[in-house]
Amino acid sequence: MSVVIRTTQVIDDPRFLDLLDAGERERAERRSDPHPFITAHALLRRLVADETGVDPRSLDFEKRCATCGTDRHGKPHVVGMRDIHVSVSYGERMAVAAVTTLGEVGVDIEDLESADFDGFGSVTLDASEMPHLADLDGDALLAARAQIWARKEAILKATGHGLVVDPSEVVVSAHDGPAALLEWKAAQHLPGPMQVSDLDVGHTDHRAAVAVLTTQPLGVRIQHG
Ligand SMILES: CC(C)(COP(=O)(O)OP(=O)(O)OC[C@H]1O[C@@H](n2cnc3c(N)ncnc32)[C@H](O)[C@@H]1OP(=O)(O)O)[C@@H](O)C(=O)NCCC(=O)NCCS
Repeated sequence: MSVVIRTTQVIDDPRFLDLLDAGERERAERRSDPHPFITAHALLRRLVADETGVDPRSLDFEKRCATCGTDRHGKPHVVGMRDIHVSVSYGERMAVAAVTTLGEVGVDIEDLESADFDGFGSVTLDASEMPHLADLDGDALLAARAQIWARKEAILKATGHGLVVDPSEVVVSAHDGPAALLEWKAAQHLPGPMQVSDLDVGHTDHRAAVAVLTTQPLGVRIQHG
């Protein structure tokens, strides 16, 4: 299997809620706007179901935190499918899910607005990355920031560390070139070689990326919902 990506816009569709298990419904109910969560988790269930030939409602997800070891939060896995690796990301308007057998996977989607804050560089960038953004402004700057941020978060979701690792310690290639992890400066262990790919989600106000812990080049199949 290559990496299969599915994207969708967040919508209010009762059929999505029908796919979720009791725990997911409970988590959805706790949110002021449950639709991004519901859309994303239904998307992930459908994608895994389509790729493995099982009923989406029969899937059971568990979590494991790479930092503290708890099963109450952290990277999701599918119970009973050790070779299947999954990841999901969502914002107010879009969701993306990933499934692969290549290795641990992380996917991330960002809207341009989320990269629109002072201090973006000092929070997220290594000094070697700053020159790539120096001549940009307006939407071009926000798009470049969102792409870099999506790559870093995808990498940190693939390793399972999330933002426990300082994103400025994850050095990636220039936004307008092929995506790659150039250097891992964090004290935490990098579990293995990492492949990264940008994703065209078909919406100019969003940027996304996928990362997989594998030596193999990434073949990415993207499906837009
Ligand atoms: C992972 C993380 C970067 C995602 O941030 P985000 O931009 O808010 O959310 P996204 O929509 O992109 O992704 C959310 C999904 O990432 C997944 N996820 C959560 N923690 C993860 C981790 N450590 N590694 C990989 N994936 C993770 C979950 O599936 C989550 O969806 P859910 O909360 O609906 O179940 C952020 O939640 C984070 O850093 N978490 C780790 C915090 C942590 O480990 N603290 C220490 C605890 S001991």
